[in-house]
Amino acid sequence: MRKPFVAGNWKMNTDSSSSVELAEGIASDATEIASAKATVAVFPPFVYLQSVTKALGTSSVGVGAQDVYFEPDGAFTGEISTSMLKDIGCTYCLCGHSERRHVIGETDELINKKLAAAITGGLLPILCVGELLAEREASKTNDVVTRQLENGLAGLSEAKLSAVTIAYEPVWAIGTGLTATPQQAQEVHEFIRKLLAKMYSGELAEGIRIQYGGSVKPDNAAELMAQPDIDGLLVGGASLKADGFLAIIQGAI
Ligand code: 13P
Repeated sequence: MRKPFVAGNWKMNTDSSSSVELAEGIASDATEIASAKATVAVFPPFVYLQSVTKALGTSSVGVGAQDVYFEPDGAFTGEISTSMLKDIGCTYCLCGHSERRHVIGETDELINKKLAAAITGGLLPILCVGELLAEREASKTNDVVTRQLENGLAGLSEAKLSAVTIAYEPVWAIGTGLTATPQQAQEVHEFIRKLLAKMYSGELAEGIRIQYGGSVKPDNAAELMAQPDIDGLLVGGASLKADGFLAIIQGAI
């Protein structure tokens, strides 16, 4: 049985006071009760990671970074290493979010290096995959997801994969209000699980969690989570309000 994993990706939003306020709202009793049945984590901007971690206090809500660099230290201006993230109490990090792929220009090869470094450094990475609208319309969804998974996971052993969560985020559904239907999402999640079974083993594929992301809201969380291969949600805009995020967690459990 895979434990649901609900994560809030705050992207480049909030400021020093609203990030703390949001974290305090999320660390409520209700979230604590929900967290017993789900893994819950938030991904604030780098500069607010420490204050958000402090604001979450002893709650079981985890904290993650939205990105990480693969080198351990040195002359890499502007980058943040896995050990820096561990040092300030981060548990998770995102790798290959679609905005980093398509806005910043990250390649599968770079994402693979980041993912490998994150695992080696003791973080629990979420590898994000998903197709553009034109790719879906050209019936290329499975090809794109296969390429992103094969290249993104290249060289990683089955043992290392135990640290990884996959997030399927169709790019056309992100921030657009256009959620994939539960059936559309389920089809790709099932495809991903079967691919992982081929790449690794049936046992690994059964155990790994695959989140859905893209315009998740309180009113569609439960029907998405009712699909057999959807194990969690990676939430953008709707995670910026504590009550909305909590409603999504409630829908997921
Ligand atoms: P939205 O929920 O705002 O569509 O964003 C999804 C996402 O990119 C989460 O990582």
